[in-house]
Amino acid sequence: MFHSVQTIAVTGGKGGVGKTNVSVNLGIELSRMGRKVVLLDADLGLANVDIMLGLRATHTIEDLLNGNCTINDLLLEGPFGLKVIPAASGTQELVQLGALQHAAIINAFSELEEDIDYLIIDTAAGISDTVLSFVRAAHEIMLVVCNEPTSITDAYAMLKLMNSRYNLDRFHVVANMVKTPQEGREVYQKLLKVTDRFMDIALSFTGMVPMDTHIRKSVRRQKAMCEIYPDAAAAHAIRKIATTVDRWPVPTNPRGHTEFFVDRLVQMAAH
Ligand SMILES: Nc1ncnc2c1ncn2[C@@H]1O[C@H](COP(=O)(O)OP(=O)(O)O)[C@@H](O)[C@H]1O
Ligand SMILES: [Mg+2]
Repeated sequence: MFHSVQTIAVTGGKGGVGKTNVSVNLGIELSRMGRKVVLLDADLGLANVDIMLGLRATHTIEDLLNGNCTINDLLLEGPFGLKVIPAASGTQELVQLGALQHAAIINAFSELEEDIDYLIIDTAAGISDTVLSFVRAAHEIMLVVCNEPTSITDAYAMLKLMNSRYNLDRFHVVANMVKTPQEGREVYQKLLKVTDRFMDIALSFTGMVPMDTHIRKSVRRQKAMCEIYPDAAAAHAIRKIATTVDRWPVPTNPRGHTEFFVDRLVQMAAH
């Protein structure tokens, strides 16, 4: 009856650091490994997941609430069976609806949970209440960081806020767009140095993704990099990260439920 779902929020504070590319390709690699993955696009920005994958949304959350479709109609099918809930389906409204609608959505999500191993949430840039809601509702938090002062500063600001305001103390770091493996470790070390001094948190290094032109090429072709360039350096790196993520302990408490996730999400948005 109880099926644990690993919910992972991919965030980082700053825009343009690679959150969406990491989310999509991590989703694809976990799917390739045989895991059942749903990717929730929680960013209404321009680089939407459905567009990146060349998918077309046919239904919206409004259709769901009006009883004109089920949660399964919202899901778009990507490579290797990866399921995508596109932002165009009204994900932003998800945190702004009334109690009855929340209940309907929570119920709808519970129809999915038997089949999912992972729910990956690709968040927007910044530390808006919407972003914070998604991040707080997730079980694991993955920070995508680049070796740029603004990226490190924004990631730090996010860690500080999550820790001081919500007592969250466990974060995973992915260094993106690194030119050398050493640079990847350095990004993590920089973040570790500032957080070690001021915060009581556990920061783990999940991996790094090299700067790779295949990423831009695949975005232009509206295909996922891991699907069309599986031998690219960045694809190998993401595969390694997927293997690491797949070894994370699966939540044993209800926080791992999609139902619980959506419940938390809407509860927090109500405040
Ligand atoms: N490892 C990488 N190597 C090269 N380009 C990258 C890499 N990761 C991301 N990019 C590029 O950086 C830009 C921002 O990536 P995106 O995933 O949309 O970031 P975010 O979601 O954080 O705003 C895109 O043009 C993407 O192609
Ligand atoms: Mg993005």
